[in-house]
Amino acid sequence: MSITTFDTAGTREATPVSGRLELDNAALEAAKRSLEKGAVTPSYGPWREDIIRLLNDALATELVCTLRYKRHYFTAKGLASPKIAEEFLVHANEETAHGDMIAERIVQLGGEPDFAPTTLTSRSHADYDESRDLQAMIRANLVAERVAIEAYGQMIKLIGDKDSTTRRMLESILSQEQEHADELSDWLTP
Ligand SMILES: [Fe+2]
Ligand SMILES: [Fe+2]
Repeated sequence: MSITTFDTAGTREATPVSGRLELDNAALEAAKRSLEKGAVTPSYGPWREDIIRLLNDALATELVCTLRYKRHYFTAKGLASPKIAEEFLVHANEETAHGDMIAERIVQLGGEPDFAPTTLTSRSHADYDESRDLQAMIRANLVAERVAIEAYGQMIKLIGDKDSTTRRMLESILSQEQEHADELSDWLTP
């Protein structure tokens, strides 16, 4: 294959062209086989296990965040600000929804979502917390949200264009963690 170009003197010359945008037909044929791999086709690349591992760590983080917010919701209800306690419950439910999205993606990638309670806190990026004081709860949640924001930011950079579906999911979760952190920092008394 060649295209016609012009050199600096304006003379026509035929230049061989490589790297054209063409589909890999062998990979399309291969996609018709290996049906047990479900949504994972040959173009997915060699990162499947790494991405599943990163997602399982994120799942553990979301589960620990759900537990921490639930604990805070039930114990803060009698404290001075029931409105903040209610927001802890809203956050708990949103963290649960994040965990569900991540678990679903792990299964789509042919992995197994790890809900094992015994290893949850060691796999989570963020910590559980049993503070009794409302401001201490807000602070612990803000620390956890900031850790989650940092972890999701790093994951998004690591995944890049290796898996655009997973990256878009993580970007949507990240934007909600940023909203959580923003709300918490508004409630924090300096
Ligand atoms: Fe979350
Ligand atoms: Fe969050």
